[in-house]
This record gives sequence, structure tokens and C-alpha cells, in this order.
Amino acid sequence: MCGIIGIASNKSVSTNIINSLKKLEYRGYDSAGLATLNKNEINEKKCSGRVEQLEKILFKSPTEGNLGIGHVRWATHGIPNEVNAHPHSSEIVSVVHNGIIENSTELKNQLEKKGKKFKSQTDTEVITLLLTEELKTKNPLQAVQDTLAKLEGSFALGIIFKNFNNIIIGARRGSPLAVGYSNNENYLGSDSYALKSMTNKISYLDDGDICLLTKDKVEFYDLKKNKINKKVLILSEDKNIAQKGDYKNFMSKEIFEQPITTKNCINEYIDKERDEINFFNFPLDPKDINKIVLIGCGTAYHSCLVAKYWFENFTSLPVETDVASEFRYRNLRFNKKNLYIFVSQSGETADTSAALDLCKKNGAKTCSIVNVVESTIARNSDWTLPIHAGPEIGVASTKAFIGQMLLLYILALKISFLRNDLEKKDYQLKIKNLKKLPDLLTKCLKSEDKIQLVAKDFLEAKGSMFLGRGLSFPIALEGALKLKELSYLHAEGYPAGEMKHGPLALIENGLPVIIVCPNDKYFHKTVSNMQEVIARGGKILLITDSNDSVINENIRFTINLPKIDESLTPFLSTIPLQLLAYHVALLKKCDIDKPRNLAKSVTVE
Ligand code: AGP
Repeated sequence: MCGIIGIASNKSVSTNIINSLKKLEYRGYDSAGLATLNKNEINEKKCSGRVEQLEKILFKSPTEGNLGIGHVRWATHGIPNEVNAHPHSSEIVSVVHNGIIENSTELKNQLEKKGKKFKSQTDTEVITLLLTEELKTKNPLQAVQDTLAKLEGSFALGIIFKNFNNIIIGARRGSPLAVGYSNNENYLGSDSYALKSMTNKISYLDDGDICLLTKDKVEFYDLKKNKINKKVLILSEDKNIAQKGDYKNFMSKEIFEQPITTKNCINEYIDKERDEINFFNFPLDPKDINKIVLIGCGTAYHSCLVAKYWFENFTSLPVETDVASEFRYRNLRFNKKNLYIFVSQSGETADTSAALDLCKKNGAKTCSIVNVVESTIARNSDWTLPIHAGPEIGVASTKAFIGQMLLLYILALKISFLRNDLEKKDYQLKIKNLKKLPDLLTKCLKSEDKIQLVAKDFLEAKGSMFLGRGLSFPIALEGALKLKELSYLHAEGYPAGEMKHGPLALIENGLPVIIVCPNDKYFHKTVSNMQEVIARGGKILLITDSNDSVINENIRFTINLPKIDESLTPFLSTIPLQLLAYHVALLKKCDIDKPRNLAKSVTVE
């Protein structure tokens, strides 16, 4: 949820800290700050708003020092202002934090009783004041170890110390943290994306680990305070390392590169010559699987809902889905023959990661579908299937959603075939159709002109409804989520068949209603639901691949999709909904890549 960077170097670090914070802004952008150690003094600079604000401050009053930490914030405790921005420093220590200290109120009360004064409303400042106490009698490592023992909740920390002007200490519990290695320089960062421009050699801390780094060395310690070694990973070169290129913003780039990312993913897993899926090392023999359980958050959860229909249609298996924040607290019955599938673009979502940990603790077999192969969720699952979509910077997930659905579709096909639930000819036909998907997505993107025209309808409306049945119901949910998170307008996704049980009362003259209605087995029933909405004045945007005459009167706009195997319609109907949310947000002059109140990776509960 927040972004952390630390650099120990033989040269001034503030410029590199700022550049890294710019890369981390997708994780949180309420406020920003840095602290360096120069001539044994802690120099702290911070501000509300974006990193470029901080850059202007530094331009006016540069901060020297060969050692420093930086932070971009997504507020959890305390409003987003300068005082609550990180770092939080005392005379002798400065701290940046990602996570939530759940016993901060209790600790704060104890410190205040000892006469300590707080400047901010944050939980992080508790860590600063605890450390300041401990450092009076202990060296930095011991002071950190003893402070962490008092904390409950999650943290990734970066800490610098007066009188120890060559060390940075990092610590991890529940929030991601990585170390990067270079010559005469070493780094601490929330994720590899922040470090990638400075090094391709990375180690990840695990929960309970502490690292102590200088410009020349890095040491790791485990929970028992033993010195340990960590694997050094060489990061893959991201060819299309996130640059906007000619696009106005990352989201438009990521929407329009979906045909390419889909093709790349298909090429990764589907044999070019034969119609065969190249999956190996299943954690469970597909024939032994009892049940499929799909877990994710937000858009990733919507991909799980779509996949439920595919697994149910292609296999003989029972399928469950759950949002991770609910799953992790249920009274669950684990079964070693269940396959638990975790979907996460970032691979760092706290709830999804906690749900995965719960499954592992109970001996369950886990598979993760991620976009960041070095992520926590990927590293902690038995089997990882990367979606190969390339870095997704826009906070609103687009190409990752298509990639998540694609991997789930391929997985459902493969498992069904290996279980003999699907005949070879049907299996191969579906693979043949799947190979056409990239070109069909390109065709769908051509609906942008029409979408731009209808986008205006949403600006004046009190809200909007997105309706669908079967495979189209989760797509209706995803379309509503996209519109909400990008344009801040109320929108609701609903099963079309459920409208008569209450929400029909919302329909009034001119209300925009989006009907996702491919020519599948639900088609005529969805058309009837649409007529119910039209009869009450709803303004219909119809997304369909049908030319059926029954659906031409009283429709505000029809977006015609190319025809395709009905199991693949979720991919095509998603495109106009992404474009709709994008253009409404554009008309409203919202921040497309960094919508208010959100962050790309929610690494706190
Ligand atoms: C996507 O548009 C949303 N911003 C959000 O719901 C996201 O899908 C969710 O936070 C899960 O993130 P993850 O895929 O990185 O786990």
C-alpha cells in the first residue's frame, strides 16, 4: 500500500531516492518524503501530495548524504498531510513504514505516560519513539530486534540512525521488502519494480527477517536473530519496461496492448504447432483433485467468478470462490485433495497472501496466478502460473484481468482434459478458438469511437447499472468496478435475473443501464430483463454479438462484438466496459492512472 526505498552509497542518494519514489507512486500517492544522513545529521524532507512536490522542495533546498530512505504513502492512520507523511524521525533515528501496527494505540498510550510527545497521528511514529528509547542502551540491530518484538500487525520498515552513518536496517512482517545489490551501493525497496532501474540482483526478505545493509555489504538475520543467507535472484529484463510511449497514460496503453499480452500468454502455454497446452508439474494429479477453490480480491476476484463457470462447464469438479478477506476468517474445512487457486496481479495483496498462508499451514495444495513472478504470493505457492502481461502500472487493472481470465481458462481446459471430462476433439477445438482471441480483441478495441459518444450519458446520471447472466454476470461486476474506481461515479453490477427482486426500483427515466448479453444460453432471458428495464425508462447500452432483430428498439447504443465460442465471450465483452470507464473518467478529468484513495497493491488488511 505504501512504497519504501533505501539507498546506501558512496555518492549522494537523494536523486536516486526521488527517481525510485516515482516508480513506487503506483503503490500510494497521498504524500511523500525522504531522510538522508549527512555529517551525522538526519535531514528529513516531506510533503502531502505527489513525489514531484517533494522534488520541488529538494530543488529549492537540496539534501546531501550518501545514505537515505524514502517513502510514498497511502494513508491508513492519519489524514494525508505533511505531518503524517513518512519518514518519521527523532533526533537519532528515522523510519519509513508500510503496513499497520495493530497495537499502536496501546503503545502510544504507554509512551505518552512516559512523557513522550507525538507530532503525528500515525502508527509509525510509535516505532520511531520506541527505537529512540532502545537506542540509548543498545546498538541499532539489537534496538530494532527488541522494538519489533513489541509490535503487533504488519510492517516493512526502512530505518537510518544518527551516529551510524553507514547502515540502513530493513525488517519485514507481512508487507513485502526486497534488497538490491550493486557496486559501492546497496538498496532496500518495497518491490523489484522500484529497484529494477538500479540493479537486477535482488533478494527478498521473508516474514521475520531483518537486513542490515551498507554500501559494501548486506547481512540478513532471522526471527531467532541468527545470521542467514538469502537467495540472490537475477531479475528478467522487462522488454516493455513500463513506459507510456505515445499513450496519454498507462491505462490506455495497457488497454490497447491486450491483444499483444494475450498473444504472449497464449504462446507461453499453448503449443504453436499442435493444439496442446503445455502445463507440467501440477501440485496435485488432476485426476485426484476433489474440488477447486478460487480466491482473490477486487478485479482478481471477478476473474475467479468467471472461472467458476468454466471449471463447472468443462470439468466434473465442484468449484468454490471467495474474496480473500472473507476466506481467511472462515471456519474452513481443508482437504488435501482440494486445489486452492490464488489470483493476484501484484502477488502482494495482504488478504490474498494471508489466505494462501492459511492454506499452506493446513497442508493444502496451492496454485497462484500472478503478474509478478518474484512476488510473495508466487514464492509461497506450490505452483505459480505467471500471466506474462508485463508491468501493469494503471491502478485500475485491465490487461491483468484479461491475463488472469486467460490463465484460468487454459487451466480449466487442461484439468478437464487430463481428467477425461473433456473429449480430445472438444479440447482441441477450444484451443483453436482460443488462438483467435488476440485478433478478436483488436476488433473489440475498435468500439472506442462509439463508446466515447455514450460516455457523456454517465456524467449527469445519478448512477448506473451493469447487468449480465452466467459468464456475463462477473463481467457486469467488473465493468461497474472499473467505472467506480476511475470516475468516482456510483455503479452497480448485478445478476440480470435478480433485478425484479428489488433493484428494479432504482430504474428511472434516463438511467444508464449496461446489458452484457452475448448470444449464449441466457440470451433470451437477458433480453427479457432488458425489456423490464426499458419499460421503466432505463437508457440501454447493449454489449452483444447477436444480430437478433428482437433487440433493436429503445436501445440507446449497441456495441457489436465479433462472434466467438460462447465460453470466450467474457474476454470480448470486457473491452468496451474498460473503454467506457476510461472515457467517462477522461470526461470528468479524473486521474486515470492514480485514482483517488486507491493504490495498486493493497498490502494491508
Ligand atoms: C483493480 O482494478 C482494482 N484496482 C483492485 O480491485 C485489484 O484488483 C485488487 O486490489 C487485487 O489486486 P491484486 O490483483 O494485485 O491482488
